Amino acid sequence: MEPVRIGEELGLYHVELHEEVSSTQDVARNCSMPPPYLVAARSQTKGRGRMGRTWVSEPGGLYFTLVTEPVPESWAVPLVCAHLVREELLGQVDCLTLKWPNDILHREGKLAGVMVECWDDGACGQSRLGIGIGVNVNQEWARGTYDVAATSLFMLSGRIFDLERMLCSLTRVLMRGVDELGEKGFVGFHPRVREVLLASRQPVKFIRGGQLVTAELYDIDTRGNGLVLTSDGERVELSLAHLAGG
Ligand code: BTN
Repeated sequence: MEPVRIGEELGLYHVELHEEVSSTQDVARNCSMPPPYLVAARSQTKGRGRMGRTWVSEPGGLYFTLVTEPVPESWAVPLVCAHLVREELLGQVDCLTLKWPNDILHREGKLAGVMVECWDDGACGQSRLGIGIGVNVNQEWARGTYDVAATSLFMLSGRIFDLERMLCSLTRVLMRGVDELGEKGFVGFHPRVREVLLASRQPVKFIRGGQLVTAELYDIDTRGNGLVLTSDGERVELSLAHLAGG
């Protein structure tokens, strides 16, 4: 992958491409360039997922962090980005679902994940958003290798993908999406995201009073909150803070 070419194609002044890093989130956090900028790696030794999980990051996958300035409704960035990543990947394989709040799944397992971190740049005192994207692309593994079912574009299609091209196309849609979110707010995305989320019956697990509760998503509101129906027939509004994963 060629950083200069990618920078020119995307109109980005700063692009870093590494063979191996601990986590692109950490490298991006330690960079004091003005946003937007991009940090990608062929592999990560300490790839991170949401809620303290590990993101297995062997060569063949796509791992990158796009750093932007915060937008007025930054809380919606993970959901909007997951929606956009799913749409982009649907150009390569069929039958992908968006699982609230921000997983991209196939019935064979998880294909891609999004995590967004916010930090202050010590040098200039400004906040930054680090949009971390992991996509299983050209890897292959035996069923049951990982605790959580996972799949890759190669395993689903039998094709090998050009990682640089995919990095460019995903980064482009994410930059446009964050701009659009900044201009129109989440209400501009709500109908599309809601339609995709409600296209399938999706289970949601959350912790209440120390107990794991299983429910089903029946709507999301214009603040991205999930409205769920528990197995006892109770309707509960969930903000992202309640989620237990899975
Ligand atoms: C999740 O589904 O839990 C989110 C996974 C996010 C993984 C990406 S890979 C690039 C970036 N660097 C990391 O350490 N994590 C994110």
